[in-house]
Amino acid sequence: MARSPGELAGARPGPAFEITVDGRPVSALPGQSVAAALWAAGILAWRTTRVGGRPRGAFCGIGQCYDCLATVNGVPNRRACLVPVADGDEITTQEGEGRAGFAV
Ligand code: FES
Repeated sequence: MARSPGELAGARPGPAFEITVDGRPVSALPGQSVAAALWAAGILAWRTTRVGGRPRGAFCGIGQCYDCLATVNGVPNRRACLVPVADGDEITTQEGEGRAGFAV
């Protein structure tokens, strides 16, 4: 019998809400990080490297490697593993440096 980590911890998350990933609706749960929500949706890569355009997603999961950078609500270079996901968030695949020069 397969058991999820949520079942093992006895977690009872609140109701799901919707975010968008490159304009596509994705379901997320309160308490998830952006990276966790993307993983749960089967999305494993959400940025490309500056040199070579190689795909990247979460690696360390604790804010150390910066592999998980994403554009969240128009702000580039957010570490998806540390940013709590919120209802209505717009996550955008980040290419290279994420157009940081345009950040507010
Ligand atoms: S996965 Fe390493 S900093 Fe986010």
